[in-house]
Amino acid sequence: MAIAVSIAERIQRLLLSLRQPSLAPFLAEWPQTHRHRAVVAGDLPVLRWLGTMACDSAAFGADLVTAVADAAPSLAWRQTYTAKELGCAFIDNYGYSEIVGTNGPLVSERLACGFLILGPSTHYPRHHHEAQEIYIPLSGTAGWQQGAEEWRDCTPGTVIYHAVNEPHSMRTGASPLLALYLWRGADLAQNARLG
Ligand SMILES: [Fe+2]
Repeated sequence: MAIAVSIAERIQRLLLSLRQPSLAPFLAEWPQTHRHRAVVAGDLPVLRWLGTMACDSAAFGADLVTAVADAAPSLAWRQTYTAKELGCAFIDNYGYSEIVGTNGPLVSERLACGFLILGPSTHYPRHHHEAQEIYIPLSGTAGWQQGAEEWRDCTPGTVIYHAVNEPHSMRTGASPLLALYLWRGADLAQNARLG
């Protein structure tokens, strides 16, 4: 649990340092005290990219990236989708780990926060969810598309906001992506829906 608390504190410090108004409602929900939940560590094929990202000199919040890479074996890595839905190549290059939230090691019913990893040349197809969301790439530049907008490249440190049920998708190029995500909303346990 000490690892989860240490990572959560690093995340909070990084978010506060950005001084972004769009982050304020999310930071207002940050748990004031730590309630712990036992989680079962889970490995995924996509974790093979963490070594590359831990050496990324262009990473945003490099100490956090290193901390995630070091802590990865003790974190619960999960997937919402199946190979039947999105194919084996996607499943081998996708995973996330919640640190704060409804199933992560630090309990919150008001905020979810964790890390998403996508391998190189991976397209996370268009999806949406009730929760408002913020993504911040930490390592790797990825293409981002939301609503009716054109695709744009998002570099490490970019703050990306998705409104309630706003469709969005991402695609990586030559580099893998490690991104911080934040969710806030009525039903944080609800999965994203494709399409
Ligand atoms: Fe999302």
